[in-house]
Amino acid sequence: MAGRVEGKVAFITGAAHGQGRSHAVRLAQEGADIIAIDVCKRIVQNSPIPPATPEDLAETADLVKGLNRRIFTAEVDVRDYDALKSAVDAGVEQLGRLDIIVANAGIGNGGDTLDKCTEHDWQEMIDVNLSGVWKTVKAGVPHMIAAKNGGSIILTSSVGGLKAYPHCGNYVAAKHGVVGIMRSFAVELGQHMIRVNSVHPTHVSTGMIMNAGTWKLFRPDLENPGPDDMAPICQMFHTLPVPWVDAEDISNAVLFFASDESRYVTGVTLPIDAGSCLK
Ligand SMILES: NC(=O)c1ccc[n+]([C@@H]2O[C@H](COP(=O)([O-])OP(=O)(O)OC[C@H]3O[C@@H](n4cnc5c(N)ncnc54)[C@H](O)[C@@H]3O)[C@@H](O)[C@H]2O)c1
Repeated sequence: MAGRVEGKVAFITGAAHGQGRSHAVRLAQEGADIIAIDVCKRIVQNSPIPPATPEDLAETADLVKGLNRRIFTAEVDVRDYDALKSAVDAGVEQLGRLDIIVANAGIGNGGDTLDKCTEHDWQEMIDVNLSGVWKTVKAGVPHMIAAKNGGSIILTSSVGGLKAYPHCGNYVAAKHGVVGIMRSFAVELGQHMIRVNSVHPTHVSTGMIMNAGTWKLFRPDLENPGPDDMAPICQMFHTLPVPWVDAEDISNAVLFFASDESRYVTGVTLPIDAGSCLK
Protein backbone atom coordinates (compact mmCIF):
# COMPACT_ATOMS: atom_id res chain seq x y z
CA MET A 1 0.00 0.00 0.00
CA ALA A 2 1.34 3.45 -0.89
CA GLY A 3 2.28 5.68 2.01
CA ARG A 4 0.55 8.99 2.65
CA VAL A 5 3.57 10.97 1.38
CA GLU A 6 5.04 8.30 -0.90
CA GLY A 7 7.66 9.61 -3.32
CA LYS A 8 7.84 13.06 -1.74
CA VAL A 9 10.91 14.73 -0.23
CA ALA A 10 10.70 16.67 3.04
CA PHE A 11 13.18 19.29 4.29
CA ILE A 12 13.11 19.37 8.11
CA THR A 13 15.05 21.72 10.41
CA GLY A 14 15.98 20.82 13.98
CA ALA A 15 15.88 17.15 12.99
CA ALA A 16 18.63 15.77 15.25
CA HIS A 17 16.30 14.94 18.13
CA GLY A 18 12.98 15.86 19.72
CA GLN A 19 10.06 16.73 17.46
CA GLY A 20 12.21 17.20 14.35
CA ARG A 21 13.50 13.63 14.53
CA SER A 22 9.97 12.38 15.17
CA HIS A 23 8.72 14.27 12.07
CA ALA A 24 11.53 12.75 9.97
CA VAL A 25 10.67 9.24 11.11
CA ARG A 26 6.90 9.69 10.75
CA LEU A 27 7.18 11.12 7.23
CA ALA A 28 9.67 8.38 6.27
CA GLN A 29 7.25 5.75 7.59
CA GLU A 30 4.74 7.10 5.10
CA GLY A 31 7.15 7.03 2.18
CA ALA A 32 9.05 10.34 2.14
CA ASP A 33 12.79 10.85 1.73
CA ILE A 34 14.29 13.41 4.09
CA ILE A 35 16.64 16.41 4.04
CA ALA A 36 17.48 16.82 7.73
CA ILE A 37 19.46 19.71 9.17
CA ASP A 38 20.34 20.72 12.71
CA VAL A 39 22.86 23.02 14.35
CA CYS A 40 24.04 20.04 16.47
CA LYS A 41 25.61 22.09 19.24
CA ARG A 42 24.72 24.36 22.14
CA ILE A 43 23.88 27.85 20.95
CA VAL A 44 22.08 29.25 24.03
CA GLN A 45 24.70 29.64 26.73
CA ASN A 46 23.70 28.32 30.19
CA SER A 47 20.50 26.79 28.80
CA PRO A 48 19.20 23.80 30.74
CA ILE A 49 17.85 22.36 27.45
CA PRO A 50 20.10 19.49 26.29
CA PRO A 51 21.80 20.47 22.99
CA ALA A 52 21.59 18.17 19.98
CA THR A 53 24.85 16.52 18.88
CA PRO A 54 26.21 15.25 15.55
CA GLU A 55 25.59 11.74 16.92
CA ASP A 56 21.91 12.61 17.42
CA LEU A 57 21.61 13.69 13.78
CA ALA A 58 23.37 10.47 12.71
CA GLU A 59 20.83 8.52 14.76
CA THR A 60 17.97 10.26 12.96
CA ALA A 61 19.64 9.25 9.69
CA ASP A 62 19.90 5.62 10.86
CA LEU A 63 16.22 5.57 11.84
CA VAL A 64 15.16 6.89 8.42
CA LYS A 65 17.45 4.49 6.58
CA GLY A 66 16.05 1.66 8.71
CA LEU A 67 12.69 2.45 7.08
CA ASN A 68 14.29 2.05 3.65
CA ARG A 69 14.06 5.75 2.91
CA ARG A 70 16.89 8.01 1.80
CA ILE A 71 18.19 10.88 3.91
CA PHE A 72 20.57 13.81 3.36
CA THR A 73 21.91 15.45 6.53
CA ALA A 74 23.90 18.61 7.21
CA GLU A 75 24.96 20.58 10.29
CA VAL A 76 23.52 24.02 9.67
CA ASP A 77 22.36 26.93 11.80
CA VAL A 78 19.00 28.28 10.61
CA ARG A 79 20.33 31.81 11.20
CA ASP A 80 22.77 31.28 8.32
CA TYR A 81 20.78 31.67 5.09
CA ASP A 82 23.70 30.85 2.77
CA ALA A 83 24.47 27.63 4.62
CA LEU A 84 20.77 26.70 4.65
CA LYS A 85 20.51 27.27 0.92
CA SER A 86 23.67 25.25 0.20
CA ALA A 87 22.33 22.37 2.29
CA VAL A 88 18.88 22.30 0.75
CA ASP A 89 20.31 22.69 -2.75
CA ALA A 90 22.66 19.73 -2.14
CA GLY A 91 19.82 17.70 -0.62
CA VAL A 92 17.54 18.34 -3.58
CA GLU A 93 20.39 17.50 -5.96
CA GLN A 94 20.81 14.16 -4.20
CA LEU A 95 17.16 13.26 -3.60
CA GLY A 96 15.73 14.75 -6.77
CA ARG A 97 12.93 17.03 -5.62
CA LEU A 98 11.33 18.96 -2.75
CA ASP A 99 7.67 18.77 -1.74
CA ILE A 100 7.50 19.49 2.00
CA ILE A 101 9.24 21.99 4.29
CA VAL A 102 8.97 21.62 8.06
CA ALA A 103 10.48 24.66 9.81
CA ASN A 104 10.75 23.11 13.25
CA ALA A 105 14.11 24.23 14.71
CA GLY A 106 13.75 26.39 17.77
CA ILE A 107 15.17 27.40 21.13
CA GLY A 108 13.70 28.27 24.48
CA ASN A 109 15.60 30.75 26.60
CA GLY A 110 12.80 31.73 28.95
CA GLY A 111 12.86 32.49 32.62
CA ASP A 112 12.75 36.27 32.78
CA THR A 113 9.72 38.51 32.56
CA LEU A 114 9.73 40.62 29.40
CA ASP A 115 10.76 43.82 31.21
CA LYS A 116 13.90 42.02 32.44
CA CYS A 117 14.72 40.14 29.22
CA THR A 118 18.22 41.10 28.08
CA GLU A 119 18.75 42.49 24.58
CA HIS A 120 20.94 39.47 23.87
CA ASP A 121 18.22 36.97 24.84
CA TRP A 122 15.63 38.94 22.87
CA GLN A 123 17.75 39.11 19.73
CA GLU A 124 18.86 35.47 19.90
CA MET A 125 15.26 34.33 20.19
CA ILE A 126 14.08 36.46 17.27
CA ASP A 127 17.03 35.38 15.13
CA VAL A 128 16.41 31.64 15.63
CA ASN A 129 12.67 31.22 16.25
CA LEU A 130 11.41 33.93 13.88
CA SER A 131 14.04 34.86 11.26
CA GLY A 132 15.25 31.24 11.11
CA VAL A 133 11.77 30.12 10.07
CA TRP A 134 11.61 32.73 7.30
CA LYS A 135 15.12 31.82 6.09
CA THR A 136 14.23 28.11 6.05
CA VAL A 137 11.26 28.71 3.75
CA LYS A 138 13.19 31.23 1.64
CA ALA A 139 15.97 28.66 1.12
CA GLY A 140 13.67 25.81 0.17
CA VAL A 141 10.68 27.26 -1.64
CA PRO A 142 12.40 28.17 -4.95
CA HIS A 143 12.74 24.43 -5.61
CA MET A 144 9.01 23.94 -5.11
CA ILE A 145 8.03 26.91 -7.28
CA ALA A 146 10.37 25.84 -10.09
CA ALA A 147 9.15 22.22 -10.07
CA LYS A 148 5.47 23.27 -10.42
CA ASN A 149 4.38 20.28 -8.32
CA GLY A 150 2.76 22.37 -5.57
CA GLY A 151 3.83 21.51 -2.05
CA SER A 152 3.21 21.91 1.66
CA ILE A 153 5.04 24.06 4.19
CA ILE A 154 4.52 23.52 7.90
CA LEU A 155 5.84 26.03 10.43
CA THR A 156 6.25 25.06 14.07
CA SER A 157 4.86 27.76 16.31
CA SER A 158 3.45 27.00 19.78
CA VAL A 159 0.40 27.60 21.92
CA GLY A 160 2.66 30.53 22.83
CA GLY A 161 2.06 31.73 19.25
CA LEU A 162 -1.68 32.06 19.93
CA LYS A 163 -1.77 33.24 23.52
CA ALA A 164 0.70 34.53 26.10
CA TYR A 165 2.64 32.66 28.74
CA PRO A 166 4.53 34.60 31.43
CA HIS A 167 8.32 34.45 31.76
CA CYS A 168 9.01 33.88 28.05
CA GLY A 169 7.78 37.02 26.28
CA ASN A 170 10.57 36.86 23.70
CA TYR A 171 9.48 33.31 22.81
CA VAL A 172 5.81 34.33 22.69
CA ALA A 173 6.64 37.28 20.42
CA ALA A 174 8.68 35.12 18.04
CA LYS A 175 6.03 32.38 17.92
CA HIS A 176 3.24 34.93 17.25
CA GLY A 177 5.48 36.26 14.47
CA VAL A 178 5.64 32.78 12.94
CA VAL A 179 1.88 33.07 12.33
CA GLY A 180 2.53 36.26 10.35
CA ILE A 181 5.19 34.50 8.27
CA MET A 182 2.81 31.57 7.72
CA ARG A 183 -0.09 33.77 6.58
CA SER A 184 2.12 35.92 4.33
CA PHE A 185 3.67 32.93 2.59
CA ALA A 186 0.23 31.30 2.33
CA VAL A 187 -1.22 34.24 0.34
CA GLU A 188 1.91 34.62 -1.79
CA LEU A 189 2.44 30.93 -2.60
CA GLY A 190 -1.17 29.86 -3.08
CA GLN A 191 -0.97 30.60 -6.81
CA HIS A 192 1.67 27.84 -7.03
CA MET A 193 -0.53 25.33 -5.17
CA ILE A 194 1.90 25.56 -2.27
CA ARG A 195 0.08 25.43 1.04
CA VAL A 196 1.40 26.95 4.25
CA ASN A 197 0.10 26.12 7.73
CA SER A 198 1.37 26.27 11.31
CA VAL A 199 1.24 23.78 14.16
CA HIS A 200 0.87 25.00 17.73
CA PRO A 201 1.96 22.42 20.28
CA THR A 202 1.33 22.67 23.98
CA HIS A 203 4.04 21.19 26.25
CA VAL A 204 5.75 18.34 24.39
CA SER A 205 7.78 15.74 26.28
CA THR A 206 11.10 16.55 24.59
CA GLY A 207 14.30 17.92 26.10
CA MET A 208 12.88 21.43 25.75
CA ILE A 209 10.71 20.89 28.85
CA MET A 210 12.17 17.65 30.24
CA ASN A 211 15.12 19.28 31.97
CA ALA A 212 15.95 20.37 35.50
CA GLY A 213 15.72 24.10 34.68
CA THR A 214 12.16 23.83 33.37
CA TRP A 215 11.07 21.65 36.28
CA LYS A 216 12.37 24.34 38.63
CA LEU A 217 10.68 27.10 36.61
CA PHE A 218 7.34 25.31 37.08
CA ARG A 219 8.02 24.33 40.72
CA PRO A 220 10.17 27.04 42.32
CA ASP A 221 8.71 25.94 45.68
CA LEU A 222 10.63 22.63 45.58
CA GLU A 223 14.37 22.13 45.98
CA ASN A 224 14.88 19.38 43.39
CA PRO A 225 11.65 19.03 41.38
CA GLY A 226 11.25 16.34 38.72
CA PRO A 227 8.74 15.72 35.91
CA ASP A 228 6.14 14.28 38.32
CA ASP A 229 6.25 17.53 40.28
CA MET A 230 5.81 19.60 37.10
CA ALA A 231 2.96 17.45 35.76
CA PRO A 232 0.05 18.84 37.84
CA ILE A 233 1.04 22.43 36.93
CA CYS A 234 1.34 21.55 33.24
CA GLN A 235 -2.04 19.83 33.37
CA MET A 236 -3.71 22.98 34.69
CA PHE A 237 -3.10 24.57 31.27
CA HIS A 238 -5.22 21.89 29.57
CA THR A 239 -8.85 20.93 29.13
CA LEU A 240 -8.00 17.27 28.63
CA PRO A 241 -6.52 15.66 31.75
CA VAL A 242 -2.94 15.25 30.47
CA PRO A 243 0.18 17.25 31.43
CA TRP A 244 1.87 17.16 28.02
CA VAL A 245 1.71 15.51 24.61
CA ASP A 246 4.27 13.37 22.79
CA ALA A 247 6.36 14.37 19.77
CA GLU A 248 4.41 11.82 17.69
CA ASP A 249 1.21 13.79 18.31
CA ILE A 250 2.76 16.79 16.57
CA SER A 251 4.22 14.54 13.85
CA ASN A 252 0.76 13.22 13.03
CA ALA A 253 -0.49 16.79 12.49
CA VAL A 254 2.58 17.55 10.37
CA LEU A 255 1.90 14.40 8.33
CA PHE A 256 -1.71 15.48 7.73
CA PHE A 257 -0.57 18.89 6.45
CA ALA A 258 2.22 17.28 4.38
CA SER A 259 -0.12 14.79 2.71
CA ASP A 260 -2.69 15.38 0.01
CA GLU A 261 -5.43 14.66 2.57
CA SER A 262 -5.20 18.39 3.39
CA ARG A 263 -4.85 19.47 -0.24
CA TYR A 264 -7.15 22.48 0.09
CA VAL A 265 -6.12 23.50 3.60
CA THR A 266 -3.86 26.56 3.76
CA GLY A 267 -3.33 29.47 6.14
CA VAL A 268 -4.48 27.46 9.15
CA THR A 269 -3.17 27.62 12.74
CA LEU A 270 -3.66 24.15 14.24
CA PRO A 271 -3.31 23.77 18.00
CA ILE A 272 -2.23 20.33 19.24
CA ASP A 273 -2.81 21.49 22.74
CA ALA A 274 -5.09 19.22 24.82
CA GLY A 275 -7.51 22.15 24.84
CA SER A 276 -5.06 24.75 26.18
CA CYS A 277 -6.43 27.47 23.89
CA LEU A 278 -9.92 26.98 25.36
CA LYS A 279 -8.67 28.34 28.67
N1 LIG B 1 8.76 20.99 23.66
C1 LIG B 1 7.77 21.84 23.83
O1 LIG B 1 7.14 21.87 24.89
C2 LIG B 1 7.34 22.75 22.70
C3 LIG B 1 6.06 23.35 22.77
C4 LIG B 1 5.65 24.17 21.72
C5 LIG B 1 6.47 24.40 20.65
N2 LIG B 1 7.72 23.82 20.63
C6 LIG B 1 8.57 24.09 19.45
O2 LIG B 1 8.79 22.87 18.78
C7 LIG B 1 10.04 22.95 18.05
C8 LIG B 1 10.87 21.73 18.33
O3 LIG B 1 11.24 21.72 19.69
P1 LIG B 1 11.50 20.36 20.52
O4 LIG B 1 10.42 20.22 21.51
O5 LIG B 1 11.77 19.24 19.60
O6 LIG B 1 12.83 20.79 21.32
P2 LIG B 1 14.33 20.24 21.20
O7 LIG B 1 15.15 21.17 21.99
O8 LIG B 1 14.33 18.80 21.55
O9 LIG B 1 14.68 20.36 19.65
C9 LIG B 1 14.94 21.58 19.00
C10 LIG B 1 15.91 21.28 17.88
O10 LIG B 1 16.18 22.48 17.15
C11 LIG B 1 17.57 22.56 16.94
N3 LIG B 1 17.98 23.96 16.77
C12 LIG B 1 17.89 24.94 17.68
N4 LIG B 1 18.40 26.07 17.20
C13 LIG B 1 18.82 25.80 15.94
C14 LIG B 1 19.44 26.57 14.93
N5 LIG B 1 19.76 27.86 15.13
N6 LIG B 1 19.70 25.99 13.75
C15 LIG B 1 19.41 24.69 13.54
N7 LIG B 1 18.84 23.90 14.47
C16 LIG B 1 18.55 24.46 15.66
C17 LIG B 1 18.18 21.95 18.16
O11 LIG B 1 19.54 21.58 17.97
C18 LIG B 1 17.26 20.77 18.42
O12 LIG B 1 17.64 19.61 17.73
C19 LIG B 1 10.68 24.27 18.47
O13 LIG B 1 10.42 25.26 17.49
C20 LIG B 1 9.95 24.62 19.76
O14 LIG B 1 9.94 26.01 20.01
C21 LIG B 1 8.16 23.00 21.62
